[in-house]
Amino acid sequence: MVNEDHILKSDETEIPNMLTIEPGADLSVPEVQRTAIDTLESGGVIYLPKGGFELSKQERALILDTANILTRVPDIENGKPTIIFDPKRGRIKKYHYAQIHGKMMRAQIKDSARSDLEAIMARYGKWAENVITQLFPCYQQALDRKRVTYRPFSRNSTQALHIDSSYGYPTQGRSMLRVFTNINPVDRVRVWQLGEPFEPFVERFLPAVQVREPSWFFVMLVRLGIIDGAKTKYDQYIAALRTLGMRDKEYQESAPRKLMEFPAGSSWIAITDLVLHGAISGQHSLDQTFYLPVEAMNNPLRSPLRILERLTGETLA
Ligand SMILES: [Fe+2]
Repeated sequence: MVNEDHILKSDETEIPNMLTIEPGADLSVPEVQRTAIDTLESGGVIYLPKGGFELSKQERALILDTANILTRVPDIENGKPTIIFDPKRGRIKKYHYAQIHGKMMRAQIKDSARSDLEAIMARYGKWAENVITQLFPCYQQALDRKRVTYRPFSRNSTQALHIDSSYGYPTQGRSMLRVFTNINPVDRVRVWQLGEPFEPFVERFLPAVQVREPSWFFVMLVRLGIIDGAKTKYDQYIAALRTLGMRDKEYQESAPRKLMEFPAGSSWIAITDLVLHGAISGQHSLDQTFYLPVEAMNNPLRSPLRILERLTGETLA
């Protein structure tokens, strides 16, 4: 039922722990829950080869050609821009921009496809919540369900190894627990690279981190409600570490990594500000982000917040 050795390629044995939960396994069995929580909190990835989230025939036909859903396809295949759905409002965010080679772009959705996409993303969010509730009942009360992300564009360029930072959505010390699913309608795999554990990564880049007070512009955006809450030092450290790691060419070339292929129909779960990762290729994935307070974890000392606090000697959230 539980297989801890699902690895396609490995040049380093230490990274990261991968737990496969076979199709049909009962997620509410205590042994499965215990192993899953241990994998997740120690910076591993939980892999569900057949997660169970499916598109209908009509939905598959809809996304098969991105021209059905979007007015324009970017000429650079880096998987951006993404589409963001806010479960609290039940709507796709209209103005979500991504920087693509210096230009700000957003996915412009055709009016004819908007409600179908919103229905897929709403259903996905509920499905992901159900999986998390079964697998981690102890988190249930504390989790805050945030955005659903859909990536309709193809990626054919490797994303640098990184930890996720929250940008306009500060976590204020909470972890980002994300459930991903490859929904590619023509069975294209999604390929990721997975890096070393969080602590050696932080130790390498921490001496170069400079945390500044938030700019007046940022403070204004928070006051106007454009940005979702104030950044804490935790958010700033995570953002700085992410940037330093991504920009370090030598690190990106030589850092230990594993490749992982996620077939269409599969799902995977990770704490993405704890797990170093980067997408390599694929098209059409969904993910649901939850914020997880460290106090809700089985072992809060394994959270990125507490690890960073130990390494910096500061209170960060
Ligand atoms: Fe990421």
